[in-house]
Amino acid sequence: MRMVDLIIKKRDGHELTNEEIKFWIDGYVKGEIPDYQSSAMNMAIFFRGMNKREIATLTDYMEHSGEVIDLSAISGIKVDKHSTGGVGDKTSLVLGPMVAAVGGKLAKMSGRGLGHTGGTLDKLESIPGLSISKTKEEMIEQVNDIGIAIIGQTSSLVPADKKLYALRDVTGTVESIPLIAASVMSKKLASGTNAILLDVTVGEGAFMKNMDSARELAKTMVEIGDSLNRDTVAVLSDMSEPLGLAVGNNLEVKEAIASLHGKGPEDLMELCYTSGSIMLVQAKVCKTLEEARAKLHEAVENGKAFEKLVQMVAAQGGDVSYIKNPEKFEMSKNIVEIRCEEDGYIKAINALEIGISAMKLGAGRETLEDVIDMSAGIVLDKKIGAKVNKGDLLCTIYTNKSKEEYLPVIEEIKSAYKFSKEKVEILPVIREVIRK
Ligand code: URA
Repeated sequence: MRMVDLIIKKRDGHELTNEEIKFWIDGYVKGEIPDYQSSAMNMAIFFRGMNKREIATLTDYMEHSGEVIDLSAISGIKVDKHSTGGVGDKTSLVLGPMVAAVGGKLAKMSGRGLGHTGGTLDKLESIPGLSISKTKEEMIEQVNDIGIAIIGQTSSLVPADKKLYALRDVTGTVESIPLIAASVMSKKLASGTNAILLDVTVGEGAFMKNMDSARELAKTMVEIGDSLNRDTVAVLSDMSEPLGLAVGNNLEVKEAIASLHGKGPEDLMELCYTSGSIMLVQAKVCKTLEEARAKLHEAVENGKAFEKLVQMVAAQGGDVSYIKNPEKFEMSKNIVEIRCEEDGYIKAINALEIGISAMKLGAGRETLEDVIDMSAGIVLDKKIGAKVNKGDLLCTIYTNKSKEEYLPVIEEIKSAYKFSKEKVEILPVIREVIRK
């Protein structure tokens, strides 16, 4: 078999056989197939797509390209959550402790942020002392003790995705339904969870820009999960504007802490209550969504959800005094307010542009080697639909960059906002729930 023939076959719109997909993935992981041929194959898949069988086969070979974790030493149904990425998405930091406080078991392996999207690991590492490196045995022990661990993916987990994702990121082939579905599901399947809640983001700040493509991606992933006996549900969540108010690592951790005290932004809280209810039913901790939602509210109100975050941070070596006194978190040198220049209603806050601006202020990395400034980012004061007058505060930037560096970013942030003279319809954060 020759890789060039497989690229041509896919380029011309034909199906690849299971053996051909195996040849590509095995050869690429072993270093026998070069990056340039895998890039060409990714681009061919981007334009030609894959059928259900091809996607299931790709997922399977990717999952088995490395270690497949056995979580059977944790009693009960393990449930995991994965977001396809967004801006201001601190959901795991809120949802994880909430679900664990009600009795769900979460052994979560998360990733880092790249480009305009943030990553849960970077946010966690903004808590001084906290370690995201644990052995499989340590992770299992922590979940058995307190019900939750959020750690970094071990290097042995789905090496095919590590190589392929890095390549896709620099070759314009991220936004492909077969490639995203195989990337997400191979990691979730290899991490040993029994049930999976997928948060498929949709809108400007997401990989899926419209409902049709988000729905197709969600259905593809739900089918893969269910065909392998993993109860899989997807929520389609709005990512046209950033989720919540804070964008940037320790700023988002502070928002997550406030949310666990019940003082979070409405959209973030709603996403956590809806997703958390589904997860607790998947985990068979609750019988109905209504019962689960009531228990999640109770856990936030009686402080148990917040206490779960404290326990997790302590178990992972973090300094819990920061969680208990969030004002201790490091602050950027430069804090600048951006004010509204007209009267009207906020019609759009482009999440992609806000994500890129936050990255330029220091909150994200363009390449994996870049060092993140944990205190940098943007905190919105208002969301889409808000009525504004000239001079009202729109958002505040936090940065350690020089004035020459941050002034152009302020202009970019301003251009992310669109205004209307008429009242603006506010979309619900949960756009749809997709089940088998
Ligand atoms: N998240 C992933 O894990 N993989 C993708 O391809 C896109 C989003």
